[in-house]
Parts: sequence; C-alpha cells; structure tokens
Amino acid sequence: MLAQLFIDAAKSCEGSSPLTEALLLEAAADLRAGGVTTRVMAGHERDRKGTMPALRFASALHRLVLEGRAPGLAKHYPTVGGSPHLPTLWDAVLPVLHEHADELRARIGASVVQTNEPGRSAPLFGGLQVAAHAAAEAAGRSTPFPVRLLEIGASAGLNLHPDRIAYRLGADEVVGDPASPFGLDPRWTGRPSADLTRPLRIVEREGCDLNPVDVSTEDGRLALSSFVWADQLDRWERLRSALELAALHPAPVRRTTGPHWLAERLADRAPDVLTVVWHSVVWQYVSPADRAEGRAILADAVARATPGAPLALLVYEPRRTHTGYEFHLLLKTWPAGVSLRLGSGSGHGIPFTWEQQEWL
Ligand SMILES: C[S@@+](CC[C@H](N)C(=O)[O-])C[C@H]1O[C@@H](n2cnc3c(N)ncnc32)[C@H](O)[C@@H]1O
Repeated sequence: MLAQLFIDAAKSCEGSSPLTEALLLEAAADLRAGGVTTRVMAGHERDRKGTMPALRFASALHRLVLEGRAPGLAKHYPTVGGSPHLPTLWDAVLPVLHEHADELRARIGASVVQTNEPGRSAPLFGGLQVAAHAAAEAAGRSTPFPVRLLEIGASAGLNLHPDRIAYRLGADEVVGDPASPFGLDPRWTGRPSADLTRPLRIVEREGCDLNPVDVSTEDGRLALSSFVWADQLDRWERLRSALELAALHPAPVRRTTGPHWLAERLADRAPDVLTVVWHSVVWQYVSPADRAEGRAILADAVARATPGAPLALLVYEPRRTHTGYEFHLLLKTWPAGVSLRLGSGSGHGIPFTWEQQEWL
C-alpha cells in the first residue's frame, strides 16, 4: 500500500524530475523488501494518498543534504552543486537512511507538503492588470484602479509581490519593476488585454493560510526549499529570488482558514481601490464546508460592491477537461459583471498562454 503510493508519486515526477523519480522507485522497492525505508516510514503505513508521504520522504532527505549533513548523497543533488548519477544514487541514499532514520521519521511525521510557487506571480500580474483596467473602464476612470490584494492559501506569501518583479517579455521589453532583484521570463504566448507599461499599484497586500511558512526564519526557508525537487534548478533559482524579495518586503500571512479571514477583510470598505481576492492551487485542499462559507461571504461582498469600491475574484486553479487537467486563470469583477477566462498555463504558472474569452 505505502510502496504503491511511492510508485504513484514517482510516476508524477516522470519527465520532470528524474532524480526524484529514481529515488522514490528505489525506496518503494526497499519498502517491499522490508529494508531501512520501512523503519524511516514507520507509523505512515496507512497515510492517505493526499498527504503525499513519498514527497515528505524526498523532502526530509533533501533537507539533510541542504543542511550539509549528507555529503555522500550531496554529490547527486544539483541544488548543492552535485550531478545525479542514477545507477549509484541508492547506494548513496542507504547510509543516510541508516544514520538518520529516527530524525527522518520524526520530520516526515511533522511535515505537510508545502510549496509556494513564485512562477504563479506572472499570470497573477497580468490578471491584476486586466482587472484594474476593466474596473476603471466600468467606473468611467481614465487611470487603472490601485489594488488591494487578498490571497487565500498564501503559504509563505511569495506571490504577494507581483508588482515588484521584473517580467522580461522580450530582449528590450521589461514590465513590472525593471529594477527588481527578481527577474522572471514568464514565457508568454499572447498578451493580457491591458496596457502593461502602466504601473500596477498595490496599496495593500495580505494573505492567510492554515499552515503559513515563515520565511524570515532559516527553518521556514529550508522547509520551502526542501520541497523543490532537487534537479529542477529553474524552480530552485526562482525560489531563491523570491525569498530575497520577501526578505526586503515582508508581507503578512495570517494563520487561519480562508472564510474566517475573508469575512473580516471584506467587511472593510475600500473606496477608490479595487479589492482582489486571489487564490492559486488551493481550492482542492479546502473542505466542502469552508468552500460553501467562502462563497457565501464573497456573495455578501459582491452585493455591496460599487463602481467606486469594486471587487474582483482572480483564481489560478486546475480544472478537469476531457483530456485531463488544465490550469485556467479566471477573472470576475463586480459590479461591472465582467466574467473572463484569461488564459491557461502550466501548474507552476510558466509558460502561460493569454487567450481571453467569456467565462460562462
Ligand atoms: C499547494 S499550496 C499553494 C500555495 C500558494 N497558493 C501557491 O500558489 O504557491 C496550498 C496552500 O493552501 C493552504 N490551505 C489549504 N486549505 C486552506 C484553508 N482552508 N484556508 C487557508 N489555507 C488553506 C495550505 O496550507 C497551502 O499552503
């Protein structure tokens, strides 16, 4: 059962992380043979698939590597300058499992899978620009609205800074903040239907999360870093830049459920500001009761939205299609009644295709 969860997780890495795929397949075989992985995973034999025990195993090992405590294994980990040699990987893993079995077991038991993907800031940036322009047009304003950004399931809050990133759209074309230490190549096909040379003004930003990660601490930074698959260096570099930006501009992420927090935040009226409720790759984790409550709170705020104090919902979530899952960027604004599918892209937000159409 547990070995099968490792095999399923290995399949999800196929083509994108050969290192994690090989690690998890070897660990599955070791579990079936009653090897040391059985001791490391003791107590997790009946973990639910959704809690991703295999990814917590990979992350706990990665963390030891990042802490410099597994030098033999580090040789295979690109995040610390190594180069994977898959035929000898498991030989390097085994001594680490034997030496740190108790600590690994404790960490796997204490952790939840936590990723905060800064690549999603690129569709967020474009979506906010469209929202700020559309709400201004509906209100008869000549300039886009400034934005109040409220993020549900913000994790470490790394996507609360979409205005502070330099988006490199072409050789000589940079939008966002060209002076930012965080440069992103968003790999866009098409463009958002808004003038991106106009600055996006975010006047207030705040998130909430059930399990926020505090990246002002070494522990928090290690926790997020350890969940990046160690041979995905583009994501690794993105995370490093996003952590640097977050250190310059700490943004609050409250420890609470989405509906509770949203009710408090949406109770305030924000004149001359567009309030945007944003979430990405969160909805699948929210309980049915919280979803229903969240919808009711939003409906109440929608009823109170005015042209001078408009409201928007912007989401980047997976949607089931006849061929599998696609990530869609959806926008609704009130009271204007705008309802758009702005485009779709990869789960990490990069690459992304802008293809605006009515969202019915
Ligand atoms: C896959 S992560 C995505 C994080 C971030 N939105 C991003 O795109 O990088 C999902 C996040 O949702 C949070 N979460 C799950 N259920 C929640 C709820 N009911 N209220 C608030 N946050 C929740 C988790 O703690 C986790 O940080």
